[in-house]
Amino acid sequence: MRVRDPRIVASLPELGVELKPATSLAELTSLGIGGTTDLLRIRKHDAIPELLRLLDAEAVPYKFLGGGSNLLVGDGELPWFVSPDPDIVLQGHFAQVDAAADLGRTVTFCAKNDLGGMEGLIGVPGTVGGALRMNAGAYGMQIGSYVRQVKLYRAARRKLETLEGDQISFEYRHTSFAPDDMMLAVKLELPSKPYREILKGIRICNEKRRASQPLGQKSAGCIFKNPPGASAGRMIDELGLKGLNVGDARVSDRHANFFVNAGKASQKDMLTLIADVRERVQKSFGVILDHEVVVWNA
Ligand code: EPU
Repeated sequence: MRVRDPRIVASLPELGVELKPATSLAELTSLGIGGTTDLLRIRKHDAIPELLRLLDAEAVPYKFLGGGSNLLVGDGELPWFVSPDPDIVLQGHFAQVDAAADLGRTVTFCAKNDLGGMEGLIGVPGTVGGALRMNAGAYGMQIGSYVRQVKLYRAARRKLETLEGDQISFEYRHTSFAPDDMMLAVKLELPSKPYREILKGIRICNEKRRASQPLGQKSAGCIFKNPPGASAGRMIDELGLKGLNVGDARVSDRHANFFVNAGKASQKDMLTLIADVRERVQKSFGVILDHEVVVWNA
């Protein structure tokens, strides 16, 4: 692997970057699909520009890997890296959260400190950075409403930047971040609510989710975005496609917009299933569904 280039490897310790060779991507993604990677684990945000300069100088390709919960990655070998160990600091109504922090843990940590608003996100897998990039939402809320500041690595300018909330646009499962921007930390402003009340909201959302989504199975959440005013899951269900499969890639029996890896599905299996369902929906409803899942290395 190019990342094992001795010049790069020799520079990693002083940058505080850990190299984990031949790490399984199947174990780092919620779909359980993917080959191996040389993983670069970053401990300090400040090391990022220099690390990327080194990788670029040696023409080593890389990707930013977050929680891996909305990703369908290839079976080949590629160098990638993840963000630093997560931290959450609270100050009044504000929560300063590293992008690598687990979303569910962040919601409960804030709740225990009487900060609410994010109850709907409780069952959404992945990191705060992933939720931020996609403007994750559920049950009538979206994370973008609470964002006041974002620290990120701007790949196009090769530097760290801090954006104020009003410099970012948050739309339905879409933000104004560039695809190669790397989320590093976010400042959220959350409404005060007693823990007990937040907990009630969390329980309601959990119950709704358990009743309608295949939580115990390997999935990437919803595969398609909902078209305006309609539900992709309902359309796929109406076509009788629950249980449709290509190898071990399968349309969930519980929620038709969740495609699960029921065993040893490959990226190709999943992509074939996605294309098939998309075509059938287009034929029957005249609607072209957009992916919500992010596809790498197709
Ligand atoms: N429906 C069916 N069959 C199905 C699935 C859904 O008939 O197989 C019907 C439901 O009965 C309901 C309607 O379709 O009447 C909408 O379903 P649901 O409430 O499950 O919401 P959704 O539009 O399918 C969206 C988000 C979910 C989020 C839920 C709850 C998208 C693409 N999906 O799903 O987010 O959890 O609302 O707020 O926006 C995700 O983004 O990955 C995700 C799972």
